[in-house]
Formats: sequence, structure tokens, C-alpha cells
Amino acid sequence: MNLYIKCQNSFQTVFLDDRTKKTANSCNFVMNNNELSYLYMKKCLNEPVFKIISRIADENNLPTYVIGGYVRDAILKRNSKDIDIVTLGSGIELAEKVALKLGNNVKVNVFKNFGTAMLKTNDLEVEFVGARKESYRENSRKPIVENGTLIEDQERRDFTVNALAICLNSDNFGDLIDPFNGIEDINNKIIRTPLDPNTTFSDDPLRMMRAIRFANQLNFTIEETTYKAIHENKSRLSIVSNERIIDEFNKILQTSKPSAGIKLLENTGLLAEFFPEVSNLKGVDEMMGKMHKDNFYHTLEVLDNVCQKSDDLWLRWAALLHDIAKPRTKKFITDIGWTFHGHEFLGAKMIHGIFRRLKLPLNEKMKYVEKLVQLHLRPIVLSQEIVTDSAVRRLLFDAGDDIDDLMLLCEADITSKNEKTYSKHLNNFKLVREKLIEIEEKDAVRNFQPPISGELIIETFNIKPGKEVGIIKSAIKEAILDGVIQNNYAEAFQFMLNKGDEIGLKAKK
Ligand code: CTP
Repeated sequence: MNLYIKCQNSFQTVFLDDRTKKTANSCNFVMNNNELSYLYMKKCLNEPVFKIISRIADENNLPTYVIGGYVRDAILKRNSKDIDIVTLGSGIELAEKVALKLGNNVKVNVFKNFGTAMLKTNDLEVEFVGARKESYRENSRKPIVENGTLIEDQERRDFTVNALAICLNSDNFGDLIDPFNGIEDINNKIIRTPLDPNTTFSDDPLRMMRAIRFANQLNFTIEETTYKAIHENKSRLSIVSNERIIDEFNKILQTSKPSAGIKLLENTGLLAEFFPEVSNLKGVDEMMGKMHKDNFYHTLEVLDNVCQKSDDLWLRWAALLHDIAKPRTKKFITDIGWTFHGHEFLGAKMIHGIFRRLKLPLNEKMKYVEKLVQLHLRPIVLSQEIVTDSAVRRLLFDAGDDIDDLMLLCEADITSKNEKTYSKHLNNFKLVREKLIEIEEKDAVRNFQPPISGELIIETFNIKPGKEVGIIKSAIKEAILDGVIQNNYAEAFQFMLNKGDEIGLKAKK
């Protein structure tokens, strides 16, 4: 495989042999570290679809390249299923010809407005586009698109590491075209824009979020002028839709250590632009010599702790939002100190508004986050008191199948640096967990199904649907949760008869 690398402002082709290593090293290009990467990349080019694209591109005299994330990930030996193809001609026509060759009724999805076409083959998604140069109007994402050369296409991409292209035409199959030293930036783990960052970010301000997402995901550092430009251009994020912003933010949340990305968002000022509630958690107040902890850094620690135990995106959201109402409930009470009374209830109430604004789903995922935020103090309270069966039953009933996630969140919430305090809390939670198992085995309230239905109450007392039915049903539920009766039909039926009698209802003979 040949590589084009930039040497003293000119391009050279180099080969993967000893001579190459010499040439490459003289260009400050650390080949040894990457040799395996190139072999891996070559393996990636063995995908049959590349051979087909290559043949069709040759037949139609179209210079054609694989470009962007697929190349970056191949070099980093990361698995990628999304392939971007750029051609000096019509991407749509090339896609249609490739699909025909692939046969098996491969369908092409054409996006005429964007001049792109996409097809799926095996488990790969291949997107085709004609090389273009784009200029953007100040306050709009709608670009004015013109056909361009490969280098014009590369320079309008977001980062040097995403601007690498590999030629697919047979004469130069496998040649790497790297005009912006993307390989060097991959070696040095740097995120940098190919052009002046102000231009790149003004073309699409979402790229500021992407810079942080890639830095977080790949464990790279954002180069200084690129970083400064994010800070300077942060308010331009306002022209980007919340759907696109949250897509990137979710990718940050799905990394193994999202705190790193969220700190970058905060320090560049981007977080306050789209998520002021989280940004507002930051800060420490002092009154009469008493300070509270910084809830921003505490939240990030809880989030990272959760990430070590679970990949679930919504549990991560619950961790991020568990203390979200602390700034709004904060009070200083002489003799007691700082309090955040009721923050779990207000926090749960804030979730719907946040999810709606950020275009997150308003479905059972949101309800799950609301539930966890609202209940996140309950196991802590239990662990501090003598645990009664009734309190455990109520927690099991309220948390239902989410009890394990709730316990995980609560354990992640212990961020004390004092080892003794830390293990004391963890041990208390262990006792709560044991009690939860014991009670669940005995009473099965986790998926509580009332043993007596509303219909049975109506039939037994020969009454019409109305408030008495509700009174009796909820009295039965309370009696079971309080341990007054067992969770079974016989005891619940007798309890229903007694309760009916108490409120003046007569059972049918
Ligand atoms: N791109 C860009 N500006 C954007 C989005 C994308 O320049 N705002 C370019 C980059 O060259 C990128 C390519 O389009 O590599 C494909 O974009 P996308 O699929 O969103 O990202 P990937 O780099 O493939 O990474 P990932 O799959 O992790 O999102």
C-alpha cells in the first residue's frame, strides 16, 4: 500500500518497505507505531464492496476515494460499519451503478437535496457523495454547494483526522491522501481543524461539540487554537438544532468517562449554551464557615461511577440529573447548615421540561429517569435507619423492576473521599440489598399485582363503579405494603369485606 504524506509542503508517495520507513521517519512520521494499523487498514479494504466500487469507478473514469471516519477508525483499529465514499462526479449515479452490480435487490436511498445516496450491503452502510466545496451563509446551516476537487472536499471537513482519504481506483488502490497531516495528528492524539477553526466552526457550529466528543471518545487532546475558537464561537451553537446537539451529547454520555467531555463542554462555555441546568450545578457557597460540596463535580463523579457498572444510556441520564434541582432548593439554615430539601421531587418534576426542550424521548425512558431521580434518596434513608419490612416493601413497590438500577445509582452516589465513611455507606447498602432480596422472596411486591380487582369489588358489594372501589383497592394495597395482611387472595378478600363493612357497604349473599 502506498501513502501520500506531506513533506516540506510537497506530496510524496511512500511505500511500506524499509525505504519507506526511512523517508517517513525523515518527515517526522512515526511509521513503526502505525505499521500494524496500515496492515489492518489494508484488511479493511478487503471488504468486497471496495473491489466493486473500484471496478465501477475505473469503468466510468471517476476518481473515487473512501474518506472520513472509516479511514480514521481503520487506522485506529476501531471497528466501523459506516463507509463514506467521495467521487469526482455524481455520487448518486455511482451509488446506483454499484447497487446494480451488487445485485440481490440492493436498494439505493437517494437524498437529492444533499446530493448523496446510501446503500446497505451485508452489515455495512455505504454513503456516496460527489466531491464538493461548500460555503455557508452566516446564520444558516444551508450551504451553497458547488462541485470541487478532492482537496477542496477534504479541507471543508471538520478535523484533520476525519479528512483522510484512500484512493479506490485500481492504479492507485490503497494510496492514502493526507494533505492536512491527519496521520500525524492521529499519532499525537490531536483534534485540529484543517482550516482556520473559525471558518470550520462557522461552516457548522455543531463541529464544536464534535471536537469535544471525539476528544472524549478517542482520548485525544484539542489543539490550542481549535480549543480557543470553540470558546470564542460558543454562542453560534444556537443555530444548531437540539436534535443534532443531543446526538453528540449522547455520544459523550456513552463514552467510558463522560466527565472528561462534560468538563470540556463546561470550560469552553458550550454547556451553558444548551444545558444551563447542569452548568448551574457548579459552584460552592460559604456561610458562617460552612460550605457545601460542588454539585457539578459531584454529579460528574457519580456519572463516571455509574459508567463503570452499566452501559445503559438512560441510567447515565439519571445519574447526570439526580441532583439537578439542588441549586433551586438550596437553603442555609443556621444550626443545620446547607440543605437541599425536596430536591429529589423538584428534580423529578424538571425532567419533562428538560427532555422536551432537548428533544429527548417523552416515553417510558423519560419516566424511568423521573422515577430514579425521585427515588434516589430512598435507599440512603433506609440505610441510615433501622430497616423495617414495611419500608423495604414500599421501596420495592415504588421502584418495581428498576430497583437494581436504583441501588446502582445510590452506590455510585457515595463519593466520600474518606475511606471509613465510604465503606460504612457501602456496607449499609449491602444490608439494604440483602433485605430487598429477603422481602421480595417472601412477599413478591416488586411487580405488585393487586390480588383483588375493581370488578370483584363491584360484584361483591353490588355497587356501581365509583370512589368506594378506589378506597377499598388502595386500602388493600396499603395493608399489604404495611404487612397487615399477606399478598394473597384469601387474606385480601377478607380484608375487602371488613373494609366494605367499615364504609357502610353490604356484601351480596
Ligand atoms: N463531517 C464533517 N462535519 C460534520 C459532520 C461530518 O466534516 N459536522 C465529515 C467528517 O469528515 C466525518 C464524515 O463527514 O468523518 C462522516 O461523518 P459522521 O458519520 O457524522 O462521523 P464519523 O467521522 O464517521 O464518526 P462517527 O461515526 O463516530 O460519528
